[in-house]
Amino acid sequence: MEDNNKPSYVVGSKSFTAVAINAAAKAGEWIKSRVGIYKELNTKLSPQDLVTEVDKGAEIMIRKLIKTHFPNHDFLGEESVEPGAKASAEAVAGYADSEYLWIVDPIDGTTNFVHGNPYFCVSIALAIKGELTVGVIYDPMHDEMFVAEKGKGAYVHGKPMSVSKETELSGSLLAIGYNPEREFALPNNMKGIAALSTRTRSLRAMGSAALHLAYVAAGRLTGYYEVGLNSWDVAAGVLLVKESGGQVTDTQGGPYHLAARHLAATNGHIHQELLQTLKEAEATGL
Ligand code: IPD
Ligand code: CA
Ligand code: CA
Repeated sequence: MEDNNKPSYVVGSKSFTAVAINAAAKAGEWIKSRVGIYKELNTKLSPQDLVTEVDKGAEIMIRKLIKTHFPNHDFLGEESVEPGAKASAEAVAGYADSEYLWIVDPIDGTTNFVHGNPYFCVSIALAIKGELTVGVIYDPMHDEMFVAEKGKGAYVHGKPMSVSKETELSGSLLAIGYNPEREFALPNNMKGIAALSTRTRSLRAMGSAALHLAYVAAGRLTGYYEVGLNSWDVAAGVLLVKESGGQVTDTQGGPYHLAARHLAATNGHIHQELLQTLKEAEATGL
């Protein structure tokens, strides 16, 4: 029998997730269709910080799709913020009291997109009262949808993910990132790479912070670290890693928060060893 007291529409976390998946899938398909035929290539903060009309168009598309369902929610998208650490920090601070905040990177891995290298993604997160609640990362070239909900685990291809089992740095596959703010990041990277390349199984730098985090969550990488990140690069991926049983902190071991810029994400087992190595190498960025 029909329960007449039951509301016909409940805005629960399942609906948030469904909207995030739909937006990521639609934007991802369109981005994929523009590989090799984008029209405008511009630089932002540095000659390495690239943006195309596809980044901007994808962000508009995602914003519209989200706002259609949740018109009163706040939206923080990379292409709507002035480039640079200061503007990024101010944007996050401006949403400190936000009840529902969507944090979006329309293309994470724009350099790869521009070169036709199939390693980029759409990253969409929802923070409720500052707490990451939904994280969706879609890799359109490999048709991989990574989904996490707070307290409910993380999934790829609909199957639960878990982080890898390595217990020591020496058996680990780690990823690093070449942040476009070179002046600040490169000296850190050089010290980090020098220390880690002799202590790990191997290092990778595939060019998408969000996908690196999704791969840590899926157990395909043991860990990842980078200095100089922004909230939209990592918000969805942080939830994926945590919900897959991994650990995310800043590079000194402090708790993750939306304004954190220098991050380490691992399977948990190697976390302290990674942090210690970064500390000894003076590569924490802090
Ligand atoms: C960049 C990518 C890259 C990372 C940079 C990010 P974008 O994002 O995630 O892998 O090293 O720090 O800025 O510019 O492609 O969205
Ligand atoms: Ca990014
Ligand atoms: Ca981007």
